[in-house]
Order: sequence, then structure tokens, then C-alpha cells
Amino acid sequence: METELIRIHDLDEQILEMDRAASLIKAGEVVAFPTETVYGLGADGLSEAAVRKIFKAKGRPQDNPLILHVDSVQMLERLVLDIPEDAYRCIERFWPGPLTLLFRKSEIVPDIITAGLQTVAIRMPSHPVALELIRRSATPIAAPSANTSGRPSPTRASHVVQDMKGKIAMIIDGGKTGVGLESTVLDLTEAVPMILRPGGVTLEDLRELLPEVEMDPGLGDGREFTPKSPGQKYRHYAPNAEMIIFSGDRESLVTAMMERAREEESKGRRVGLLVTEENRDRYKGDNVIVMGSVEDKRTIAHGLFDAIRRLDELEIDIILCESVEEDQIGMAIMNRLLKAAGGNRIRL
Ligand code: TXA
Ligand code: MG
Repeated sequence: METELIRIHDLDEQILEMDRAASLIKAGEVVAFPTETVYGLGADGLSEAAVRKIFKAKGRPQDNPLILHVDSVQMLERLVLDIPEDAYRCIERFWPGPLTLLFRKSEIVPDIITAGLQTVAIRMPSHPVALELIRRSATPIAAPSANTSGRPSPTRASHVVQDMKGKIAMIIDGGKTGVGLESTVLDLTEAVPMILRPGGVTLEDLRELLPEVEMDPGLGDGREFTPKSPGQKYRHYAPNAEMIIFSGDRESLVTAMMERAREEESKGRRVGLLVTEENRDRYKGDNVIVMGSVEDKRTIAHGLFDAIRRLDELEIDIILCESVEEDQIGMAIMNRLLKAAGGNRIRL
């Protein structure tokens, strides 16, 4: 299949392009588009045939449900049986934005979206291109991250091109995504509100509104899982290389990683280092990639997936990576790093 590539730099001026994208969605095709978190692989969320194409393009297991993206509360209301009070409060505070909420699904949501579950995951993205695409398509858009299943999520259109060229109808290039990690998935359908996937909206943010929010105990160290959020059980965001996360004080990190790097190199392996800005100059070697600054962990979230993809291009055998503190957005960062490493962590 020929994949059309369009670049949106001025929404108001590019109505024709957005109409073309929406007409593809309405015709049951798959269109990749930017959101404020990562690029999504979108299709008409009410059409089973269209959604099937998403699973095919990604090579995604059928038991992993998808998020529906809406442009309004009216659109949400058609998709769910009820909207609890807590959900309204979250919507008011965090939508549009990187928060996905679980609801009891209504009849019109196809089973393929929810993988047979009685709940449906829904969010309203804040990226203007995403909102415009939903509005013009006049249907909720089902969209997982636009990567091949198991690969790091795309934060640039070029990442989507790498994974999806020839497999989908269109890629909309809207530049680099902002947050860089996926949305937070919050379950409000049980007695205790539970974060099933940490993301752009932090635990601390949510607790200001709902003090009783907990992290799903199944999130664990990247190896364990509960099937509560099916997506959490797969190795994800994974580079081709082996990956080890080093945790400890920032002094010992550098020493331990340099030591391990020398050891690996003496075995003839190509080593990549994934490090923070502040420590950059303390490492030696060719393949040192900066993921962002510990002073502002949002920069790490923003650059993380791109950094992992760059290391893959360097054909590294083993990636040694610094950890960050697990507060605020650091929780989502560590969740992705540990998953990318398959739970492989050295505590110093
Ligand atoms: O930021 C995002 O959320 C991006 C952009 C494109 O919106 N999308 C995204 O989708 O990350 P995906 O499919 O890669 O991840 C969706 C996550 C998976 O972990 C999935 O298991 C979980 O949400 N999920 C979806 N529906 C669910 C449900 N009904 N119950 C529990 N977990 C659900
Ligand atoms: Mg994904």
C-alpha cells in the first residue's frame, strides 16, 4: 500500500489536507496522527473492519484493548453507560490532555476495541491536529501508539515512517510530540481509583483531586504484571539491544556503568550509554546518548523514546542506562525504562 505523507504546520491554512485525512478515516482506512503524548495509529473506532486494520499494521495481540479518542463530552456520553462524579472532576481538570479514563462501555463500542472487556478506555487529546481529525471524522478514533508492537512509541513522524510505511493509508506529520510518553490510564470503575499505566498526568497531580488514588500493584518492576491493563504484560518499548538499568546514587552510577562498559567492550560488544545531561561529560565512549536533564524530568520523558531508537540505529549490543527518581513524571519514565529492559536492573 502506498502511504501518503502530509505535513501540517498551519491548521487554519490546511483544511484541504485535514479533510483528506478525515475522508480516509471515514472510508475505514488507518491514518497515523500526532497527539501531545506520542503518535497514534488511528481508525474509525465504531467500525470493526477499520479497527482490525490497526491490529494488523501494528502486529498487536488481539487481547490488548485500544483507547478511543474523543473531541467532546457529548461524544464520550454515547460510548459509555455512565460517567461517575469522579470522572467528571478528572475531565474538568485534565481534559483535553494525557489522561485516559476507563468507563463501563455502551452497546455501540465494538468488542474488538475492548478485547471483550466490559470497560472502555477513553481520552480527549489536546493536540490541535488530533482534535481536528476527530472533529472532521465525526467519530471516535481508536488509536494505539503508532509503533510496531513491542517497539518504542513514536515521538516524531520519522519514527512512524520507519514502522508503518507501506502498511497504512496516511501519516500526518505534526512535528515532535510534547510529553513524549503515553497517557496515564486511570480506572475509576472499581472502589479504589487505580492507575493502570503511569503517564503524562502524574500520581501527584491526580491525588490533588482524588487523594485515594493508588498505583496498580501489578505494575511492579517491569517483569511482573496483572492482566488488569492487558498492555502492561508485554515487553514494550524495547530496543533490539539488551538493556540494563542502573539504580543508585548519581556518583556510583557513573563508576558502575563505566566499569560495566569496559567489561562488555573487552568481550567485543558494542556498548551504548543512555545518560542524563548533568552526567554527560563524565562518561567516555562513542555511543553516549543524552535522554534529558534530571533537573527537569519532563525533558527526559520528551526525549526518551527518540534516544532509544537512536541507539538502535547505532547497532548497539547492550545499553547501559541511568535510572531517575520515581516521583512525578519519573514514575512513568522508570515504568517505560524497566519495560524496555525487560525488568533488568542493577541496584547499587
Ligand atoms: O498517549 C496515549 O495513550 C497514546 C496516544 C496515541 O493516545 N495511546 C496509547 O495506546 O498509548 P496503546 O494502545 O499503546 O496503550 C493503551 C493502553 C494499553 O496498556 C491497554 O492495555 C490499556 O491502555 N487499555 C485499553 N483499554 C483498556 C481497558 N478497557 N482496560 C484496561 N486497560 C486498557
Ligand atoms: Mg503502545
